[in-house]
Amino acid sequence: MAVTLVFLIFASLIVLYFYLTRNYKYWQKRGVPSPEDVFPGIGNMWDFFTMKTTFSENCRNIYNKYKGYSMVGFYNFTMPTLMVLEPQLVKTVLQTNFASFHENTLKIDPDLDPLLANNPFFTYGEKWAIGRKRLTYAFSSMRLKMLLESVKQVCVTFEDYLNRNLNKVAKKEVELKDLFSKFTAQVVSGAGFGVDGLCFDEERQSESFYSLGKTFLDPSLLNNIIFNIVFFLPSLGKILRARFLPKKADHFFRSLVTEVFEQRRSDGVRRNDFLQLMAELERMEGDKFDLGVLTSHAVSFFIDGYETSSNVLSFVGFQLASHPEVQKRLREEVLSVFARHDGVITYEGLKEMTYMDQVISESQRIIPTLGFLTKVCTEDIELKGSDGLVCRVQRGTPILIPVHGLQEDDRYWKNPEIYDPDRFSPDSKHSIEKFAFLPFGEGPRICPGMRMAQLQMKACLATLLRKYSLELSPKTQVPLKMTASSFLSAAVGGLWAIIQPI
Ligand code: HEM
Repeated sequence: MAVTLVFLIFASLIVLYFYLTRNYKYWQKRGVPSPEDVFPGIGNMWDFFTMKTTFSENCRNIYNKYKGYSMVGFYNFTMPTLMVLEPQLVKTVLQTNFASFHENTLKIDPDLDPLLANNPFFTYGEKWAIGRKRLTYAFSSMRLKMLLESVKQVCVTFEDYLNRNLNKVAKKEVELKDLFSKFTAQVVSGAGFGVDGLCFDEERQSESFYSLGKTFLDPSLLNNIIFNIVFFLPSLGKILRARFLPKKADHFFRSLVTEVFEQRRSDGVRRNDFLQLMAELERMEGDKFDLGVLTSHAVSFFIDGYETSSNVLSFVGFQLASHPEVQKRLREEVLSVFARHDGVITYEGLKEMTYMDQVISESQRIIPTLGFLTKVCTEDIELKGSDGLVCRVQRGTPILIPVHGLQEDDRYWKNPEIYDPDRFSPDSKHSIEKFAFLPFGEGPRICPGMRMAQLQMKACLATLLRKYSLELSPKTQVPLKMTASSFLSAAVGGLWAIIQPI
């Protein structure tokens, strides 16, 4: 009896081993270089699996080891995945041969997360085209000027909040991600949904958009686990009925959009928000918008815009606090632009803040919010690298774009570890290697919210730097270490700074 049991356990382990390693000859058979340290079931993701590194850092390490090649095949757990290493091939995937790579790998279960089912990030084909069209419509120059009016309101509330907090004390220690999340959540509530998000109202914090966002977007351990199950282990997610957007948030957004959109449809008063623009677009197209789909698009504004923008702002704040000379130069620019524009934020004034663009871009280069992009091959295609390597990519193969690796490769960036906004100066930026800098992606799937994000980030920084300075707090753990379980870059222990009036 005992012998039979031991035999059964042994046989099951062998079967499991063969099952978990069934794909591990995939790249060898195709003559594509591939790292040898493959662990059964874990593939080349050991450091990520053991939480030594983030997913992005794990991929960057593979990039650094194989950057002499044009492509490397690796095993993302059991899945053979192709990483394209040279900018020319990145261009092929993201732009030139978009038809063969037009889907992202992350998918959503529409039954569990109906409000994410129409988000352009997770869709393709007609659904994708409609979602992109609506967001792109809202973020054209003319309409951005209109949305800026709402952002300006947020800047006033933000400044009041800072004044209120810093009137009583000479300096205050703040966690930058937390501070900027309040700002971007307030922007989404005002410019997205046309309501006051209460993010700077200390007494009603629990009802705010900021608190709502934190429940599912904050990189807490629980949220990271849910995120990884929903996106990386969808079969388990189905069994556990795990959803990204909690039911409470789903109800909240549906009733808010229904109520506000009905008002926008019937109201003659012109407002400065996304739903107003959608009501205009609906009138132009002459067809009633489906409210579920529209809510999904408005929620894209929240999900894709709020966490990413506050994430970038927090790392820019960290760089400014760590590089006082950059902060001083940026403040000089901000003050001189305000002086030329009667002390108010204007669309033209923000455009004139070109050093600020450099500061933000360099921060996004050195710590990308999203350190990798993933696409899926949708049509068989042959990729040829400049080193002569040829790979016949099969439909269904995931493709990884190593944003993090490319953005710190010393073949494209001189002294890549140094934070130097002058790389993006008017004299230098033309020599930046195309497709080696991808903070917003590239090609037909490039982030449609890029200009909205830049606008709100610049307005926020201008409001802050005009009257206040940032100094790095000893509470920030330098050098920064990133939270291994987080999808977007998130510093362990937070980014703490001391803020005081200038
Ligand atoms: C600083 C803030 C932001 C960053 C760093 C960022 C970054 C990105 C990146 C890297 C992608 C993937 C592009 C690709 O797959 O090639 C993306 C896609 C997307 N972003 Fe943003 N984003 C930001 C703000 C926003 C905002 C404010 C919105 C507002 C609506 C937005 C909406 C989207 C959408 C809908 C997609 C999917 C596009 C598609 O697949 O066609 N993003 N973003």
